[in-house]
Amino acid sequence: MSIKQYKLSNNNGVTIDFISLGARITSVKIPHKDSHVDIALGYDTLEETINGDGYMGAICGRLANRVDNGKFILEGKEYILDQNERTNHIHGGAHGYNNKIWEVKESKLEGYESAYELSYLSVDGEGGYPGNLHLTIIYALNNDNEFLIDIKGVTDKTTVVNLTSHPYFNLNGLGGGKIFNHGLEINANSFTPINEMGIPTGEIRSVANTDMDFIQETKLSRRIKSEYEQIHLVGGLDHNWVINESNEALKFACKVSEPESGRSIEVFTTQPGIQIYTGMHFDGTNVGKSNIPLTQYAGIAIEAQNFPDAVNHENFPSAVLKPNETYKEKIIYKFGF
Ligand code: BGC
Repeated sequence: MSIKQYKLSNNNGVTIDFISLGARITSVKIPHKDSHVDIALGYDTLEETINGDGYMGAICGRLANRVDNGKFILEGKEYILDQNERTNHIHGGAHGYNNKIWEVKESKLEGYESAYELSYLSVDGEGGYPGNLHLTIIYALNNDNEFLIDIKGVTDKTTVVNLTSHPYFNLNGLGGGKIFNHGLEINANSFTPINEMGIPTGEIRSVANTDMDFIQETKLSRRIKSEYEQIHLVGGLDHNWVINESNEALKFACKVSEPESGRSIEVFTTQPGIQIYTGMHFDGTNVGKSNIPLTQYAGIAIEAQNFPDAVNHENFPSAVLKPNETYKEKIIYKFGF
């Protein structure tokens, strides 16, 4: 199957490009003066996208983020997944959905200017996971500049699921350097600390009196180099925050903003956690759009999802999906400019 490209657009001049490989978002363009600015990291050509960072803009699963030692027990049976990051399993491993070709068809969704339906059947045993998991995702854009990702999944055997969307943003636009001038607000009173392998310890820790407190909008330059042990451990932010509960179906998770341009992204979701990752692994060897090398802190990934390694922590929200249930999660990125 060949890889195809698609475009969502609205009446305000916002456009979002994505491709069928990994459902990867390849650009998010918002109006700027009489032109536009691209606020999503990515590549200029399809070829570079295919050969570039495999998670950039992609849908990650069957289990997004890390699984300790690539193992978990479900209904008394141990499942062994591939260890594709040291001894960790990350973003679904070699058979992750970021590398699968999704079937895409144009769709209609009330209240949305443009919409597509993406689907993928992840067969029983693929990547070591049990059950045929049939996934459908709606990508839709409305005139309130809200990009909706509406995910549904059904299985024929008990399985585990945690899907996320993995775009990296830089509100300065292409060639915008590091994201240090961005403000970050996270609607979370606690987070899940990690060990040196990036795996949650199981603790749910209050952010109070720590540099993990983003209840009030805080400039990233004031926090990324923090000596706070959790931030120092990974050289920036690469953690899951526990989104505060609310009565709204879609909870406000976080807001990233850049004061000078007035640009912002607000994230609303049904998911329990929000992983914020400030791009520490970019080392300049990978060249992005306009031939600009992707260097450390070139973008911020905002990934609404279940808590990482939930399959190995009973006190985390369950990632188990049974045959009579539907996995249903929504993520909205709302662009301000
Ligand atoms: C993780 C990072 C990882 C990145 C890979 C993020 O979701 O939290 O630790 O390096 O994905 O793209």
